[in-house]
Amino acid sequence: MKRYVLLNPGPVNIKEKVRRSLLAPDMCHREPEFGRLMTGCAKKLLRAFGIAGAYEAVFFTGSGTAALEAAVVSSVPRGKKMLVVNNGIYAGRIAEIARRHGIGLINLASDVKKTPDIDAAEEKIRKNKDISVIAMVHHETSTGILNPVYGIGKLCRKYKKLYLLDSISALGGEELDPGKAGVGLCVGTANKCIEGIPGISFVLVKKTALPGLKKIAPRSLYFDIPSNLEGQKKGEPLFTPAVQAFYALDVALDELLKEGVNNRVKRYKNLAVFLRKGFEAAGFEYLIAPKYLSNTITALRLPKGMTYTRLHDALKAEGFIIYAGQSKLKKVIFRIANMGQITAGDARRFLASLKSVLRKPGPHKGKRAAG
Ligand SMILES: Cc1ncc(COP(=O)(O)O)c(C=O)c1O
Repeated sequence: MKRYVLLNPGPVNIKEKVRRSLLAPDMCHREPEFGRLMTGCAKKLLRAFGIAGAYEAVFFTGSGTAALEAAVVSSVPRGKKMLVVNNGIYAGRIAEIARRHGIGLINLASDVKKTPDIDAAEEKIRKNKDISVIAMVHHETSTGILNPVYGIGKLCRKYKKLYLLDSISALGGEELDPGKAGVGLCVGTANKCIEGIPGISFVLVKKTALPGLKKIAPRSLYFDIPSNLEGQKKGEPLFTPAVQAFYALDVALDELLKEGVNNRVKRYKNLAVFLRKGFEAAGFEYLIAPKYLSNTITALRLPKGMTYTRLHDALKAEGFIIYAGQSKLKKVIFRIANMGQITAGDARRFLASLKSVLRKPGPHKGKRAAG
């Protein structure tokens, strides 16, 4: 099968070593070998982010949303509320999970093209004494905005609130010291900047937050953090895990440890800088101000007359998978992610293909799409 350069925000292009790990012999998850594999992955994950000792890693078999749902349902005591600092679609997802579980919610929605207003969040906290958890998305993948992780962390410290951070598209791709930021629950996934395969997500739980979580009667059988952690620590997962995805995660974490999180962050950042120079030279306009941009997503306005489908299909024919805008931005933007094993050569070839697609005759010449 043809190799596509995946410019979507996960699943990402992975190393050959990670892919080959999937061919390991079949394994029963009730045998000690699997317990060792899973606890080994937890240790490597914590070590990679420099948080061994202060945090636990709890795995869930499922995509990023699985771990996110686990963090939401396991963190808010009954009668208390979650404040969602919401500047995009993925923050909206956190709020929706809370709603569906009947969890008290204060949804502080703000402009999706800007970072959230920390003062507005503080005012909500002051006025609503029943808020116990503050949730935010680290990197709003729908727009590419990098949110003020440390600023909201400061608020959580000041008002003694539990901090839930959806770092699904940031962990490994953006600088983060969870301890320094005061994050209580940090949600991540295997198949984005960690460079594993889809099937496993996780929550990094601050050990000091655990006694509080244990006091909450579980709202979910599958997604309860304390009971999953207990099983995992004994090497006895509660449910059938994605065994092969753990093989891949184990190798991906070895590679992450070898590269170092800081170097990976730099690698992604350099790639984004290179791509953005090319986008600017080709006349593209950003959706959001460059000062807000993350290291891994660039949302660009579609040139006038160019539909996403036409652009996507032409680039796919050249071996590149780009990503559409979501919801209201569907007809306005396209997104380019630079997570995973994308080389400088891939990026150069992509920019050349993009330019040649734009040069082809079509109704797209002229101004950008409005929105
Ligand atoms: C910030 C963020 N949160 C949550 C999710 C949901 O993850 P998944 O699609 O793996 O369930 C994504 C996926 O891109 C994301 O970027």
